Amino acid sequence: MTSLTPILTRSWGDETPWKLESYEKAGGYEGLKKALGQSQADLVQLVKDSGLRGRGGAGFPTGMKWGFLPAPDGGPRYLVVNADESEPGTCKDIPLMMADPHLLVEGVAITSYAIGSHHAFIYIRGEVVHVYRRLLKAVADAYAAGHLGKNIHGSGFDLDVTVHAGAGAYICGEETALLDSLEGRRGQPRLKPPFPAVAGLYARPTVVNNVESIASVPAIVRGGADWFTSMGTERSTGHGIFSLSGHVTRPGQYEAPLGITLRELLEMAGGIREGHELKFWTPGGSSTPIFTAEHLDVPLDYESVGAAGSMLGTRALQIFDETTSVVRAVSRWTDFYAHESCGKCTPCREGTYWLKQILHRLEHGKGEAGDIEKLVDICDNILGRAFCALGDGATSSITSAVQLFREEFEAGMTQPASELFPPERSALF
Ligand code: NAI
Repeated sequence: MTSLTPILTRSWGDETPWKLESYEKAGGYEGLKKALGQSQADLVQLVKDSGLRGRGGAGFPTGMKWGFLPAPDGGPRYLVVNADESEPGTCKDIPLMMADPHLLVEGVAITSYAIGSHHAFIYIRGEVVHVYRRLLKAVADAYAAGHLGKNIHGSGFDLDVTVHAGAGAYICGEETALLDSLEGRRGQPRLKPPFPAVAGLYARPTVVNNVESIASVPAIVRGGADWFTSMGTERSTGHGIFSLSGHVTRPGQYEAPLGITLRELLEMAGGIREGHELKFWTPGGSSTPIFTAEHLDVPLDYESVGAAGSMLGTRALQIFDETTSVVRAVSRWTDFYAHESCGKCTPCREGTYWLKQILHRLEHGKGEAGDIEKLVDICDNILGRAFCALGDGATSSITSAVQLFREEFEAGMTQPASELFPPERSALF
């Protein structure tokens, strides 16, 4: 792990950063103590002023989301942390929770206080049992030290935190499917509106925030909004974790201000693996349109990536060199979406299945006349018509890859990708 702005990742190189005593020694829970001395409205305003935008992918302004909660009516309201990280290529929240679970727990306590919630939930993927256990231990230690529970640090504020392990479905990262799953139902997205802020968990006002968003809060409380806005760009403030994977010399997590470019990140990561060159990459996981070497200098902030035709998403930079078949890469991602489609809506359930069939034909040199047009047409019919973001996400890599590398799809009419791009050279498939 290398970093330009070691904030979220500052302790990752330490010997036992996950222990409460290590966290406290480095100033941990000071942000909570400071927050408890402020008004809830001031804290919400602070996060609004910081410009922090949701780090789960959509980039929705965090303080604005908190501000959407209706006025207290005496009933419960909840904070739910989305720790169900599963966008292909995204690997930032899981290492963060593993290395520094108290950073998240402190963020949960501050956020709960700010929004007036007395019960917070952390919904984590069931497969990462080691991270689940680490969080359970961190929460138990935080209770024992008085950072959670009754009358936290004499403030009169009470908070319970429940860590809940999901059963491993990509759809349960969609916030409303997550809420259904947390309530004990099969995880499927709900119709929005109403947004969770109005009717979320158990139909009560709920803030759903990503791990990295919540883990950013303690530093904002300690450093202030001006400090946070001094990093990043005007509308994409602050810093974040970029996950670099694939054909890169030193894959891993790189923390940097938003607006950094892939060229700069590659300098830290030792470049593309030796003797090879960049062919294509995803700026924000497989749900975002792919980029090529032409986009090396696009600032990785919400606006610039959007203007260049993709999305910043989860900042999962999957990097592929010239040995990779774009058809095979897109086909693998589509297998994933077809498998993970929850089946609730027809465009996604049927569409991803059809996309998968066509891509398998093209991948194996058995494309049929009109297959490429059919691919694009199915994508057009899923986009904007699916119940949630999963359907749209499934189409992004396909339509962009056809635009940028049409000749490879045409080659798939007669030649298998394994002949054109022997998998052993690529070493990724
Ligand atoms: P969205 O844009 O619909 O919503 C973003 C957030 O803003 C939600 O919490 C929503 O409740 C809130 N919101 C939006 N408008 C609102 C309003 N008018 N009132 C109150 N709240 C409002 O995006 P969505 O569907 O939540 O997320 C899509 C993104 O998720 C994709 O762009 C993708 O990058 C990312 N993603 C991340 C994954 C991961 O593993 N981290 C997995 C899959 C997708």
